[in-house]
Amino acid sequence: MKLEEIKKDFPILENDIAYLDSGATTQKPTKVIDAIEEFYTKYNANPHRGAYSLSVQATEVYENTRTRISKFINSKHREEIIFTKNATEALNLIAYSYGMDNIKQDDEIVLSIMEHHSNIVPWQKVCKVTNSKLNYMYINDEFEIPDEEIETKITNKTKIVGITHVSNVLGTINNIKKIIKYAHKKGAIVVVDASQSIPHMKIDVQDLDADFLVFSGHKMLAPLGIGVLYGKKEILNKMTPFLMGGDMIEYVYEQETTFAPLPNKFEAGTQNVEGVIGLGAAIDYIENLGYDKIQEIEKEVVSYARQELSKLDYLTLYLTPNEKNHSGVISFNINGVHPHDVASILDSEGVCVRSGNHCAQPLMRFLGIDSTCRASFYFYNAKEDVDRLVNALDKAYNMFKKYII
Ligand code: ALA
Repeated sequence: MKLEEIKKDFPILENDIAYLDSGATTQKPTKVIDAIEEFYTKYNANPHRGAYSLSVQATEVYENTRTRISKFINSKHREEIIFTKNATEALNLIAYSYGMDNIKQDDEIVLSIMEHHSNIVPWQKVCKVTNSKLNYMYINDEFEIPDEEIETKITNKTKIVGITHVSNVLGTINNIKKIIKYAHKKGAIVVVDASQSIPHMKIDVQDLDADFLVFSGHKMLAPLGIGVLYGKKEILNKMTPFLMGGDMIEYVYEQETTFAPLPNKFEAGTQNVEGVIGLGAAIDYIENLGYDKIQEIEKEVVSYARQELSKLDYLTLYLTPNEKNHSGVISFNINGVHPHDVASILDSEGVCVRSGNHCAQPLMRFLGIDSTCRASFYFYNAKEDVDRLVNALDKAYNMFKKYII
């Protein structure tokens, strides 16, 4: 499939823009939009709650998508897939339902300094409530976690390791297989945030041996408001529910309740069925195109972006030199100019980038900066998008250079 044909699958890209913010959310292909419309026009009903055929059909599609996702990430059991609102809710679920019950005073939780706030703040709460300690694995000058950090920070006291597979700021691909193996040797469980990796690379939870893995649908072509929590069945079975309400119960008495088995135990209330259906269609799209093709396109565009942005001497790049450890996210600053000002000029040239701290303030502080601009790529981007970014950056630099001290 040629890139021009791929672009035609994304109606919004008919606008004259270079969309370089897929790390925040990806654009949606017609097939995903159509699948949602089909649900509302042909079989909209509340799953698990009706004996009439529309509800049965909605239930079937909802549950078949769970099986589809289980196969997509190779989980051993389909009930290990829990639908959440997003990766953030999934991480909160783990922190509250596993962390609060299993972490004891003086235990340690280890995170990387490149975590998104959603994989930091819930653990801070757990540590405060349980009197346990939060430690960080820091990065080196190449924006990677060195082995010594893994081996000194994860100790026999560590009970949970939280690690992002790909940094949403640096694009660094962490060696999570190695971290998981090391953490297990020390008796810790590992929570993987795959939000920035699963859009770009195959995830196999059994091969990784991840205890928990979370991701958001909207960063992989699906609608906003749908996420996935994967957890090993034996761990999920022992956990208490996070949210209480309809459909997560077995029997409710005046004073007591018994809970439904997995996965319903963790899916209280009417679920985001259109989101689940959209996520199923998004996975179909990704699998039809294939991760090999996705990576082939991205490698060409991201390598070109690395090369062209490196030529701009007024730019600081926050980027690992090891291309094989880098996914499609590039953070940069025009030295002396605020990233929001840069992003506004880029916008006036039709280039969409994110600017700010990217929900990663501890990382920003560690790097000694407040914020960056960030270009993030997906398979619908072309080299022309990079050229447009470079031209817009030149324009921004020329506008601001007289003010740079
Ligand atoms: N977590 C998303 C990002 O990094 C919103 O942009």
